[in-house]
Amino acid sequence: HSRENTGGCFNGECRNFIKVLLSQHGGLFVCGTNAFNPLCANYTRDTLEMVGEPVSGMARCPYDPRHANVALFADGSLFTGTVTDFLAIDAVIYRSLGDSPALRTVKHDSKWFREPYFVSSMEWGPHIYFFFREMAMEFHHLEKVMVSRVARVCKADLGGSQRVLEKQWTTFLKARLNCSVPGDSHFYFNLLHATSGIIHMQGRDVILGLFSTPPNSIPGSAVCVFDMQQLAHVFEGRFKEQKSPESIWTPVPDEAVPKPRPGGCAVQGSRFSSSTTLPDEVLNFVKTHPLMDETVPLLGHRPWVVKTMGRYQLTAMVVDTEAGPHKNRTVLFLGSTRGTILKFLMVQSGDSVSHSSVFLEEVEGFNPEK
Ligand SMILES: *[C@@H]1O[C@H](CO)[C@@H](O)[C@H](O)[C@H]1NC(C)=O
Ligand SMILES: *[C@@H]1O[C@H](CO)[C@@H](O)[C@H](O)[C@H]1NC(C)=O
Ligand SMILES: *[C@@H]1O[C@H](CO)[C@@H](O)[C@H](O)[C@H]1NC(C)=O
Repeated sequence: HSRENTGGCFNGECRNFIKVLLSQHGGLFVCGTNAFNPLCANYTRDTLEMVGEPVSGMARCPYDPRHANVALFADGSLFTGTVTDFLAIDAVIYRSLGDSPALRTVKHDSKWFREPYFVSSMEWGPHIYFFFREMAMEFHHLEKVMVSRVARVCKADLGGSQRVLEKQWTTFLKARLNCSVPGDSHFYFNLLHATSGIIHMQGRDVILGLFSTPPNSIPGSAVCVFDMQQLAHVFEGRFKEQKSPESIWTPVPDEAVPKPRPGGCAVQGSRFSSSTTLPDEVLNFVKTHPLMDETVPLLGHRPWVVKTMGRYQLTAMVVDTEAGPHKNRTVLFLGSTRGTILKFLMVQSGDSVSHSSVFLEEVEGFNPEK
């Protein structure tokens, strides 16, 4: 639809779509699209009365209800992944509302984001992790290829110096998620749709991701599991770069990486105890090298669930880690585009890395044809 004259809303899109709903200090923090003029406000939990004045929802909530966004509170600040403008061109990871300075990702830089679709965000250790999919920049293809990513920022980031990355993240790094089936030609599930939260499983912190193939490919969906320790380790590895617009992307040799290592959290008491005092060289490097060379490996080298050749995709996931009479089984509930819910029992072997799944049943939830 054309929205050149803003008086025109279509199909009820001028309603106030709630896109952020967080529990904070015993109340609720809520943001809505508010007819393409996003606003946020606090409400009491029991009587749903507004507390204080609303604030702008810009960079906290999308304008268009169809745009995906994520939000969470950590260390008293709000961390959001969304778009800041009406046309959804300026994608952002933004921190605001707390005592720390407001920070954002670099604007209009396709190395940082290229048409991202945010899926989830979570706090783990000193970082906030964001899971999303976006158009790849690291392949030399003419056609657009979508890939799935995880990005992270340090919660304690204070932004760059007045010369480089002022009021922007100095710790933003991202890596590709590898959800694939081994074989002669590796088969990738490139589109992330949903993740679980961080789950503690047999001594590991893991996260489950639900992926699909792109619409023009063999229809298929898969659940891959990532070990958070291995995931974090990728951010300690090599950076990826493209030396000139024509060259292919290659890993940055170790001797070309400045010190202290770009993208790290500032350490209290060290020579660089604040990101604002980092050398220009380090800040320039992290500004131009947000992508890691290695992909995040999937636990066990194969997906836990693979469903191909169905005429529908799986796009939603809920994980119950306390299923069964002894509350010690894990069951996945996967929602399909056909309105059904597929249940799988996870079966782990003793070494905790290998696993398989047993299909339990398919439940009709909502049949759009009826
Ligand atoms: C809502 O509460 C949060 C957390 O307590 C606070 O940071 C924020 O400023 C409040 N927002 C509004 C609009 O009152
Ligand atoms: C993804 O993982 C598989 C199996 O672990 C590996 O063979 C493949 O090279 C990886 N792909 C990328 C792009 O890293
Ligand atoms: C769950 O707990 C029951 C009772 O303690 C035990 O017999 C069973 O082996 C456990 N199952 C798994 C998968 O750990």
